[in-house]
Formats: sequence, C-alpha cells, structure tokens
Amino acid sequence: TLVYEWSGLTQLAKLLENHFGLQHVIVVPGDYNEDDTILTLLGKEAAQQFMSTSVDGQIVAVTGGKSVASLAQFLHPADSHNITFVAARGGIGHEMQMQANTLVSAFAMQMDAQYRTLFLPEHLSEQAYQAMLAEPMVTEMMNYYDHADCVIHGIGSAEEMAVRRNSSPEDLRILEEKGAVSEAFGYYFNAEGEIVHRIRTIGIQFEQVQRSKDVIAVAAGKQKVKAMLSYFKVAPKQTIFITDEVAAKAIAESL
Ligand code: G3H
Repeated sequence: TLVYEWSGLTQLAKLLENHFGLQHVIVVPGDYNEDDTILTLLGKEAAQQFMSTSVDGQIVAVTGGKSVASLAQFLHPADSHNITFVAARGGIGHEMQMQANTLVSAFAMQMDAQYRTLFLPEHLSEQAYQAMLAEPMVTEMMNYYDHADCVIHGIGSAEEMAVRRNSSPEDLRILEEKGAVSEAFGYYFNAEGEIVHRIRTIGIQFEQVQRSKDVIAVAAGKQKVKAMLSYFKVAPKQTIFITDEVAAKAIAESL
C-alpha cells in the first residue's frame, strides 16, 4: 500500500472510509474496466489484508465472483494453523470457475488449509428449502456460518447478478419493482441499503456477516458505483473494502 501514498489514493481511501464508516479502505490505481491487471492489484491487496487477520482455527466464509477469485494467487501458508474456508453459498449459474465452492478449494490449496463445500441449487422451492434445513450436511454448514471469523465477499449490481443467476422473468420483475440496486452474499439491497430480496438457498445470513470479526469486500469498476453506494449504507463497520481508483473517484464525486 505504501506505493500508493504519493498518488493521493490514500486521501481518497480515507474519504470513503470516513463517509461509509468502514474499518479500512484501499484504493488501487487505475481503471478495472480498461485494464485486466487491476484485478491482480485488487487481489494482491485483498489477500494481504486477509492474511493479516489470520488466527489459529480461523473460519473463513467465501462467496463467489471474479473479484473474490482474484485473491487466490496471492495466498500462501500462514503461521496460524487449522484455517477452514467454507463456501458461503451454493453455486451460481454456469460459472464454475467463480463459484464459492471452487474458490474455497483453491484458497485452501494455496494456504495448506481445509475447506467445506456446499453443492445445492441457487433456487430452492420453499418445500425443498425446509427439508434441506434438517440435513446434517446443511446444519454443519450453518454451524460454520455462525462461527465465521472472517467473510470475504464481492458486491455486484443487482441487475447483473440476477442475469448471472438465470433468474426467472418473475424474479427479475420483483427485483425491479422493489428497486434492487446491489447484491452481496445472496441478498439484494435497494438504494437505501434495505434488504428487498433474498435468494432462497442455504447460505450465510446477513446477521452472521455482521457478527463476523473481519469482513473483506472486494469490488471495482465504474458500473458498480451505484451498487457500492447502496451496499455501504448497511455494510458492517468492520469491513475492509478494496476497490479501484475509477470507482473510488466516482463515489467521492457523488457524495
Ligand atoms: O455478489 C457479487 C458478486 O460476487 C460479484 O461478482 O466479482 O464477478 O463482479 P464479480
């Protein structure tokens, strides 16, 4: 992070930090949309932040997406032992490379740690959902979520995430009607940061994210600015947010 000191990005980060009341904000130089290497910078910073939280027996819940995936190559075995990565949700659409289940195994491999996966559809009927809650595999995951020490997640625009999830026309209509703007860990939030919709699947609950000691949010790109402004209205204060210069400037200008 020292490298960015001179470029004014630290002041920009501070401004966002104070405005949203977050633990820490890191702004990497450049434009995520213009330059593929920005994702690498995000991943490097996020991985460093995460590694500094590591403690013995740490339970880390991880969501899917490109931004979270960017940490993988920068993780390495920590001094702390017995770290477990748990998939915060079932799969999303067809994007196997970016699913929480895939990422936890990649993260665990990098760190010589353990992992737990959860292979369930993203959309469950009310009946299937209720039945699943009694499954030992599911209660084990719920127990992990309850004891998550750290959550690593992305933030998406509601519209993009609904499309990625192959949401039904009915669901898309509901999201639009309810004014969903952002998405994080399966929850959809409106511009005021209120939860307006939730995917019915087994996954970490917002309360559990709020109780987690450390939260690392990675999201960049100008097209996510509205989503960031919405989600950070309710983001837990312990959140460390890693983003790019273009998004950070656009946020700052909108304040
Ligand atoms: O919840 C939001 C998504 O995880 C964001 O995914 O990093 O691929 O844009 P992304």
